[in-house]
Amino acid sequence: MANVTVIGAQWGDEGKGKIVDWLASRADVVVRFQGGHNAGHTLVVGDQVYKLSLLPSGVVRGTLSVIGNGVVLDPWHFRDEVAKLRAQGVNVSPETLQVAETCPLILPLHRDLDALREDASGAGKIGTTRRGIGPAYEDKAGRRAIRVCDLAHLDDLGPQLDRLCAHHDALRAGFGQPPVDRDALMADLREVADFVLPYAKPVWLTLGGQREWGKRILFEGAQGVLLDVDHGTYPFVTSSNTVSGTAASGSGLGPSAAGFVLGIVKAYTTRVGSGPFPTEQDNDVGERLGTRGHEFGTVTGRKRRCGWFDAVLVRQALAVAGVTGIALTKLDVLDGFDELKICTGYRLNGKNYGYLPPHARDQASVEPVYETVEGWSGSTAGARSWAELPAPAVKYIRRIEELIGCPVALVSTSPEREDTILVRDPFRD
Ligand code: IMP
Repeated sequence: MANVTVIGAQWGDEGKGKIVDWLASRADVVVRFQGGHNAGHTLVVGDQVYKLSLLPSGVVRGTLSVIGNGVVLDPWHFRDEVAKLRAQGVNVSPETLQVAETCPLILPLHRDLDALREDASGAGKIGTTRRGIGPAYEDKAGRRAIRVCDLAHLDDLGPQLDRLCAHHDALRAGFGQPPVDRDALMADLREVADFVLPYAKPVWLTLGGQREWGKRILFEGAQGVLLDVDHGTYPFVTSSNTVSGTAASGSGLGPSAAGFVLGIVKAYTTRVGSGPFPTEQDNDVGERLGTRGHEFGTVTGRKRRCGWFDAVLVRQALAVAGVTGIALTKLDVLDGFDELKICTGYRLNGKNYGYLPPHARDQASVEPVYETVEGWSGSTAGARSWAELPAPAVKYIRRIEELIGCPVALVSTSPEREDTILVRDPFRD
């Protein structure tokens, strides 16, 4: 398999940034295919820390990087993120970065609507990143979106803008807000168009060519399977499909393009935002995991909710996403626990469940069934071989593999790229 697709197998924040960076050093192209600047990927290279929300991770090392059609693009954020990387000494140019001409744009009116809805939702709020992701995808599906290619034809935008504003003005009126300021919007678009357009390319052609030449393509997923709009904990999800199939549809390649699907799995569980979380530990255990794991959102700075490893959810996520092997991350955060718990099933209304039932109320009510396993006192931090891991840590990994029905391809033991135990090279399989 020449290609690798990396996806998060929990609720995002599994540590994809490091794994993608590790793989990107051997890829010819890196592609983002869904989501937008709601993602938060942290890369540590030497003594530099790079925080990316929208740009593919390959861009930091100068690998050809592509933003596919499945992404929703905030052009002002795009400009800022490029500027930030340049200020850190990274050479970003249209030679190394391409954006699909067909990407729908996230506009200020999308951000407004995201925030207005969240503020009006009380206890029912999703806890979004407030970056306009959901409203932008709605406009894409509603055929009202302004896309990257429209930036080259702003004078022809009239009827399209009428449709978009008619829709948003009605929604804004419902929230007691003034209509969209069309002149300001057009001025903002004109101002950013010159920056974005040199990057706009028919990326399906670029990627098709790369495939033909046998180049290695790395697809970089954002968020996680449990936030997938079809397969996640709906409605507490993001608005895109985060499963591996989107690598193809979100970049303009056929379904066989995904190659080895690597699911990134954290050795415990975290979630940011609202929604069910069966193994959540709102206690000392959760505090300890959060503190040791630095569990604060890269994008919003919000404290992440923390809990034990949930093998039921991960097994389900790997199945619906078609995962070939996993990368287990942040094992070192579990160092020093006397014992650890793994969720192996649920109880609901006197019945046993081996999967998460679909209804939000049931998802919030399931009781996890735990298995207790031995912890370890030694350190796993920085381990680069199995021999360096304490025996109970190896047992913990083996038990997880058994329960989720999927082999470990990589174990990550620190944010440093080289602190990785390689079991199976996804690019060579
Ligand atoms: P949205 O994607 O901003 O609409 O947010 C929807 C849900 O997805 C919220 O619960 C967010 O906290 C969550 N979310 C979005 N992006 C990420 C991410 O990159 N990591 C973790 N959670 C995310």
